[in-house]
Amino acid sequence: MGMGKVVSVAIDGPAAAGKSTVAKKVASILGFTYIDTGAMYRAVTWAVIKKGFDPKDEDQSVTLLPGMEIELLPDGRVICNHEDVTKVIREPLVSGNVSYIAAMKPIRLALVDMQRTMAQKKSVVMDGRDIGTYVLPDADVKIYQIASVETRAVRRYDENVLKGINTTLKEVEEDVRKRDYIDSHREFAPLKPAVDSVLIDTSFMTVDQAVDAVLKVISAKTGIEIPCH
Ligand code: CDP
Repeated sequence: MGMGKVVSVAIDGPAAAGKSTVAKKVASILGFTYIDTGAMYRAVTWAVIKKGFDPKDEDQSVTLLPGMEIELLPDGRVICNHEDVTKVIREPLVSGNVSYIAAMKPIRLALVDMQRTMAQKKSVVMDGRDIGTYVLPDADVKIYQIASVETRAVRRYDENVLKGINTTLKEVEEDVRKRDYIDSHREFAPLKPAVDSVLIDTSFMTVDQAVDAVLKVISAKTGIEIPCH
């Protein structure tokens, strides 16, 4: 390794479509690095709330950008300004406010800069909302992963239960709908499929089926042979 071409795989789509679950597995099978860009917007949101700032107030929120450090560790932990925020960034308080923060252009510019740097030297699977359209417009593979809103709400609710995050199915569905609306209607780098993306509807797929569907697209587009898994 090291001399080969750097490959980038972009996986975009609406909230709780199972992107991170699939992206993580695909990255691990291919030996690529998984980059969870949503965790970065969540970390900034956490920092804003922790400071006592209003996550709808752009002037206030952007003052936290200078010196903001976000680390995505290989084991999945998320570190923000030297604090482990892995669990707290999944809490409803952060989920319910992250789309306001993510709509702020100066915040996006700062995080996109970090994301592009991360994808420069190594092969990545990066998931988010604007990876194929804005962050990595020349990505070798672009996937747009969707599922019905009902399916997505149930999946996220089940994940929350496993993680010990206290929510009702109704709250989760409302959060998912609200974020989808804000994410797809913001002015700068909104959620939408890249024109050259491949659509994968996972509503009736198991995780393994979705992983195999993504691997098939990667193999077709790049010629990479998929290792046994
Ligand atoms: O896991 P889930 O699909 O629920 O969301 P996430 O990927 O953790 O992203 C959380 C929020 O961050 C999204 O609802 C967007 O508001 C924002 N986001 C974004 O704007 N652009 C990205 N590339 C990734 C996330």
